[in-house]
Amino acid sequence: MRVLVSGGTGYIGSHTVVQLVAAGHDVLIVDNFGNSKPSVVNRLEALTGRHLPVHSFDLTDHDKTEHLFANEPIDAVIHFAGLKAVGESVELPLEYYENNLGSTFSLVRAMRRHGVTKLVFSSSATVYGTDQEAATEERPTFATNPYGWTKVMQEQILRDVAVADPSVRIALLRYFNPIGAHASGTIGEDPQGIPNNLVPFIAQVAVGRREFLSVYGDDYPTPDGTGQRDYIHVEDLAAGHLAALNRLGTMDEPVGTWNLGTGQGTSVLEMLHAFERAVGRELPYRVVDRRPGDVAVSYADPAKANRELGWVATRTIDDMCADTWRWQQANPTGYPD
Ligand code: WQD
Repeated sequence: MRVLVSGGTGYIGSHTVVQLVAAGHDVLIVDNFGNSKPSVVNRLEALTGRHLPVHSFDLTDHDKTEHLFANEPIDAVIHFAGLKAVGESVELPLEYYENNLGSTFSLVRAMRRHGVTKLVFSSSATVYGTDQEAATEERPTFATNPYGWTKVMQEQILRDVAVADPSVRIALLRYFNPIGAHASGTIGEDPQGIPNNLVPFIAQVAVGRREFLSVYGDDYPTPDGTGQRDYIHVEDLAAGHLAALNRLGTMDEPVGTWNLGTGQGTSVLEMLHAFERAVGRELPYRVVDRRPGDVAVSYADPAKANRELGWVATRTIDDMCADTWRWQQANPTGYPD
């Protein structure tokens, strides 16, 4: 199929592009480079051995989005594009609602006008609100921050679109904590500015860009007192998107919702020590106060995805750390401008 990947030069989008091409799909990308760099395209073309058409504009621009669908054959869409920083969303709620909801309105409107009925949507475990232990897809959704609400709302918008037009086939994929990098070390996670997330921060400590890791609290009700999360290798996550894309061709109901996680929780200190094993030395850290808004424990029940998508996360925490470290060593300051 010819697949439009929105946000295709971003962290998860780029890894998914590589697997789409390897699986025989044609790919075109739309990206506003708001959280990525054009140099990613060169890496992707080197990895895939293919020219990858990139349309650089913001999906909230209805006219440009309509023009893209009017001029490019598209069989399916994987929609990654969106703002995704929890803390930033609290400071800039209007920007988050306008961007995340507006891009989805624009995309779905163009899909409808041009008869594109297959959509895989990048959702998040954040829609489980604060109670994310062994979360199953039937659990009611809510959020504790504007970013999370944009995901809750986009899921609802897409469910309502499917009621109005049962010919669509939509996969809502709820990610837990994506980490890791392509085994080549040529693409990976490249957060702009100070990393919000744990593993990119640890990687930057290991490569000498940050002095030490701040562990946000060791007084949680967990075995070692630090927060537990369901970390999933980005390559497993990308594979989940291909499995969902395939499922769209065979599913009877218009919308399917699946958790993409491992079902295992790993604590902050366990992750730090796993990264030390990858690096071969101890890494400095300090325990500080809890981060506001953090939950103690979050991990998936991935049984539905395992069963219905024929998909299982296979890579270990040590794989995730080794692949992240290979990427960070080869790209100490991330992608070139
Ligand atoms: C993981 C653990 C922190 C940084 C976020 C978003 C979520 C999703 C994934 C988009 C927690 C601890 C972290 C640090 C630390 N994104 N930590 N020191 O918060 O689980 O999820 O990213 O969908 O929506 O909320 O990920 O990596 O920020 O934190 O101790 O410098 O690491 O307290 O226990 P989180 P995270």
